[in-house]
Amino acid sequence: MKCVVAIDGTASSGKSTTARLLAKKLGVTYLDTGAMYRAVTYLLLQEDGLQASDGLLQKVLLSSPLEFKILNRKLYVYLDGKLLENELRTPEVDRWVSHVAEHLSVRAFLVAKQREIGKRRRLVCEGRDIGSVVFPDAALKVFMTCDLEERTRRRKKELIEKGIERGFEEVKLNLQKRDEIDSTRKLSPLTRTTDAFYVDTTHLTIEEQVELIEAEVQKRMEGK
Ligand code: DC
Repeated sequence: MKCVVAIDGTASSGKSTTARLLAKKLGVTYLDTGAMYRAVTYLLLQEDGLQASDGLLQKVLLSSPLEFKILNRKLYVYLDGKLLENELRTPEVDRWVSHVAEHLSVRAFLVAKQREIGKRRRLVCEGRDIGSVVFPDAALKVFMTCDLEERTRRRKKELIEKGIERGFEEVKLNLQKRDEIDSTRKLSPLTRTTDAFYVDTTHLTIEEQVELIEAEVQKRMEGK
């Protein structure tokens, strides 16, 4: 098990940017597990499979043309050989991804892939169940959150940068709903484990978030 840092937390709390920059600083692979759940959601939207039973989903996934590759210490997702990027971050995927992530077959399929990726690499891995389920032996577990209004502003800005205009209330409602589903689902819900380092990013810049966690990694490495 080579997970160095496991970051979990609420939607748009700054996990992805922080994890990406931290991984770069530490010289390890950055694994965005949300992108994997988004890729499955995109696949199901394409194949009209959102209502499929868990058993059927398992079959679909086992024979799916989805590929998860690590190149230059970063995850790339391909469907039928085509790289998926902005397709994973549309409001439609936002709308469905938490429902898709409730399925046992989806979680089992993706957790196995994540552990496989972690077998041979040192990782900064982020998601909702990383410290609690996927890599419980991570050297450092982080739980990240942020005030909902601030998260809404950040997510809205991110959407605008992708040329997608959405109202503040619509974006806020989606984040709120996803958090609710993600933290109340039966399987591997988002939880703050007792051994997680808690970071509230509401009043922090990205640089401050990264520095804070990097300092904590150093402390753990030095056994403090
Ligand atoms: O990190 P993100 O917002 O891109 O994740 C999208 C959704 O995927 C999130 O709302 C819940 C699900 N997810 C999950 O259930 N477990 C993970 N480890 C990562 C994401």
